[in-house]
Amino acid sequence: MTASSPNTPVVGLEDIAFATGANRIDLAELAGRFGVDPAKYYVGLGQSEMSVLAADEDIVTMAAAAAAPIIERHGTERLRTVLFATESGIDQSKAAGVYVHRLLGLPQAVRVVELKQACYSATAALQFAAALVARTPGEQVLVIASDVARYELHSNAEPTQGAGAVAMLVAADPSLIELEAPTGVYTKDVMDFWRPNHSATAIVDGKLSISAYQDAIEGAWEDFRSRGGAAFDEVDHFCYHQPFTKMAIKAHRHLAKVVGSELTQAELDAQIEPTTGYNRRIGNSYTASVYLALLALLDSDLDLTGERIGFLSYGSGAVAEVFSGIVRSGYRSALRSEDNRAQLDARTAIDDARYLQLLGDAAAADVHDVVHPQQTSAPFRFAGVAADQRQYEPTTA
Ligand code: COA
Repeated sequence: MTASSPNTPVVGLEDIAFATGANRIDLAELAGRFGVDPAKYYVGLGQSEMSVLAADEDIVTMAAAAAAPIIERHGTERLRTVLFATESGIDQSKAAGVYVHRLLGLPQAVRVVELKQACYSATAALQFAAALVARTPGEQVLVIASDVARYELHSNAEPTQGAGAVAMLVAADPSLIELEAPTGVYTKDVMDFWRPNHSATAIVDGKLSISAYQDAIEGAWEDFRSRGGAAFDEVDHFCYHQPFTKMAIKAHRHLAKVVGSELTQAELDAQIEPTTGYNRRIGNSYTASVYLALLALLDSDLDLTGERIGFLSYGSGAVAEVFSGIVRSGYRSALRSEDNRAQLDARTAIDDARYLQLLGDAAAADVHDVVHPQQTSAPFRFAGVAADQRQYEPTTA
């Protein structure tokens, strides 16, 4: 199965890797503070844990850690572009990817830029990357999605925080997934979620964001179909943006209703289940979330060879995009499934008191000058700020 004409190169994902924070908190800890049944989070939201960053971790250190194994495997000879997608940016001007460029020792003949549109922008980055590679098939593009989801403490949204980064290498004749040409897009100005410049946490209208998400996916799906995209029953697996994994189930049930699918609710839910394993344990990673859904699916026991994956990407505010890809034969040899699972298990379990202390310390830290003692064992760390300049360095053993 291929979407490309004989004259256009097959373009898609050559490699994918992820990184997350040093710590994890079980949502039963939050349930205790909120005085609710943990089942509200485990079942109602479909979340069991969230990743919590050490004081010397941020979107840059996670991004560099996610991209490092990709650079190690593929080198930098064909790399011309780094697209860094985030909605938790660390600077109003400088692209976070420029720090990553230095930490990874990338060549100077590389362009680096940051993209923003809530949880959606990594999907725009992927599409831009595919277009660049289609124009010059000898070039490769590194797409990085890295975010820390932070909401007001003690708000209903607090249990849907998290942190993570996914790095993807886009190339011609890819080892993992061939991207198909049709995409469906949708934009509507909605105030369901935003973060003003003065605020460290996002402002969210949770209930509105759920209906805005479903409306946007419906609109993008209709556009996808009108442009020759695959029908619902021609898609074998569906990777949705997962601010909490139950959201993917809600959206999938909604889409199934819109298209008139005759699948039962249990069959629909089973279609989503293999995509939820990582997000359920990491929490919301905003731009990275839809690609963590993909990674969980690729790392599952299912043989996906030749199967079509649908991607349903949503960013509040709101922009959505639907596209699809075909899994290449031999894809398993390009995965790091055991390392991925080990990375999740290696996080330090913290209780609610430690979690509140970490957040409190971060809020109280001097934003102009601060030294962060080493906490993380990730490959790169955020050593602090000196005269308003962020300091990043490889972590010493
Ligand atoms: N056992 C099982 N399920 C339970 C439960 C229990 N003891 N108690 C509650 N639930 C269920 C509820 O029925 C509900 O499920 P449903 O939506 O399928 O009906 C779910 O748990 C959540 O409960 P609810 O009362 O709606 O939660 P909330 O008002 O505290 O907050 C969000 C939920 C998602 C609105 C909130 O976490 C939020 O604003 N998150 C950030 C925004 C976001 O992620 N938006 C997504 C689109 S981008």
